[in-house]
Amino acid sequence: MAEAGSFAEKVKQQADIVRVIGEYVRLRKTGQNFTGLCPFHQEKTPSFAVHPLRQIYHCFGCGAGGDVFKFVMEVDKCPFPEAVRTVAEKCGIAIPRPPERSPEERRENQQRSALVEMHGEAATFFSRQLHEGAEGKVAMAYLEDRGLDREAMKRFGLGFAPFSGDALRRHLKSKYPEKLLEASGLFSRDQSGRLYDRFRRRIMFPIANDAGKIIAFGGRAMGDDMPKYLNSPESPIYSKSNVLYHLDRAKEALRRNDFAILVEGYMDAIAVARAGIANVVASCGTSLAEPQIKLLARFTHRVVVNYDPDTAGQAATERSLALLLEKEFDVRVLALPGNADPDKFLKEQGAAAYGKLLAQAPPYLDYLIARARRMDRSTAEGKLAALNFLMPYLQRLPNKLLRSEWASRIASELRVDEPVLREALRRAAAERRSEVKPKTELLVPPIRPAERRLMRMLVEAEGFREKLGEMLAAEALHRGLETERIFDALISKVGEHPDAATLAAALEDRDRRVLFEVLFEEAEEATWEEAESCLAVLRSRSVENELAELQKKIEAKAAPTELNRLLARRLELQKILAQR
Ligand code: UTP
Ligand code: MN
Repeated sequence: MAEAGSFAEKVKQQADIVRVIGEYVRLRKTGQNFTGLCPFHQEKTPSFAVHPLRQIYHCFGCGAGGDVFKFVMEVDKCPFPEAVRTVAEKCGIAIPRPPERSPEERRENQQRSALVEMHGEAATFFSRQLHEGAEGKVAMAYLEDRGLDREAMKRFGLGFAPFSGDALRRHLKSKYPEKLLEASGLFSRDQSGRLYDRFRRRIMFPIANDAGKIIAFGGRAMGDDMPKYLNSPESPIYSKSNVLYHLDRAKEALRRNDFAILVEGYMDAIAVARAGIANVVASCGTSLAEPQIKLLARFTHRVVVNYDPDTAGQAATERSLALLLEKEFDVRVLALPGNADPDKFLKEQGAAAYGKLLAQAPPYLDYLIARARRMDRSTAEGKLAALNFLMPYLQRLPNKLLRSEWASRIASELRVDEPVLREALRRAAAERRSEVKPKTELLVPPIRPAERRLMRMLVEAEGFREKLGEMLAAEALHRGLETERIFDALISKVGEHPDAATLAAALEDRDRRVLFEVLFEEAEEATWEEAESCLAVLRSRSVENELAELQKKIEAKAAPTELNRLLARRLELQKILAQR
């Protein structure tokens, strides 16, 4: 929690929750709030809301909610102190020297920043080798031959690793200890234990994280050396499955256009970006990993997969499709004609032709049906194989109507009996249902409008919150309500003007969810008259409850003296109710 006077509290006061969450979720202004697709559960229609005034978020679907720190903790899966730092950074709030953490953690952090710095220097070194070095001329000629001019080489930070095998090591060794050089992944050890440059005689593509810091390299051989591309190994700052090449430069365009073009290679991403289409990222390597999808989901949920048309690329397209669909991405496939990858196609046909095909890229199922139609379906086995190829994708369609429409289309395109197909689909769906784990739904019972209004007044009716709290407490009008614990929390804090997140901290998840729902309702400012009428509703309710209890006792045939007392009380209560 953000303690009063702490750095966290200061950050919280200055931070804008809409801006911070906006980096993870595409938010749209709706009324006084902002809404978007919830990052904590999968959904197609937005039920996630951010309240700019109260600085809280709440998902009406899954019940997630809290303040800006809770959001970052949950979305980044990090502890509180890290969430505070993240928020501070995003909002440009100067971070005081971090408190002394464990020595080990400190060492790791220092190591990481040194490695990032080293990669920056290595990139400068490689770039200078390309543009000024003696050996660079060959590399330059190679790149020019591939259609890149000097400006493009500079723009994408391309470089050249010379042949010698220790040029980079000599360049860096005076500045960094050997241990660090080794951890960077930029060097290997020979048999005698000496470090030498991992990249030799290769065109160097710097790989940046989403913040734009260079954390690794991909090195392309200029001839037929193997491997064609040599990449940095995993290191303390680089994990292949967590990085999308060109994402750092694509961010803006991804948000603006709300879709990404996913390509395989460095050269593809560069070619597409040079064609003026900045919302392109490369998975670098054939298949897309789940963390990469999560990363992309922070910017958009729509993807055009534009992998190479070779067999490997096709297989990768299909694997990636499955993953993307699982994460509820809206997926299209751009399969370029003529066995060309995006780089080659752009070079041969130009940006306009590419743009045209991009705009026409069909939904993934159309692409898959076309694939299935090309399979040999002359035999029953062949037909079955084609069907089995399509079925898993069809099953992934979350919408039943859509599933049914596509089933008809597949049946007619593949010339299979529609009933046969539907039966297969039904069986598959039944299997899938049994796999689905029951959701641990937080059940929120319907809460009376009077209770909802009173809760809201206790939080924000500046003129009479305290008076209202005292009356509720004195008459114990909230006892026995579903919302009793929420009222207790609100009443106990009514003098302190706490913010919503602080109140929520004292509540269980279920109660917090109710409270946040109430706080997100669009509502007019309350008056004392309204408060009184809400109180009256609660009073009636308590009278009604007592009446119901009495009725039970009377029907249970109490002893005569007792019965008289009960009947008298019943009359009294009925009179009270009648006066209302
Ligand atoms: P490709 O073989 O399609 O290369 O691999 P490319 O991008 O078209 O490259 P050029 O045009 O021949 O230069 C696609 C991507 O797969 C990864 C690289 O990220 C490459 O850009 N890859 C490929 C490797 O990591 N290692 C390899 O040996 C080959
Ligand atoms: Mn390629």
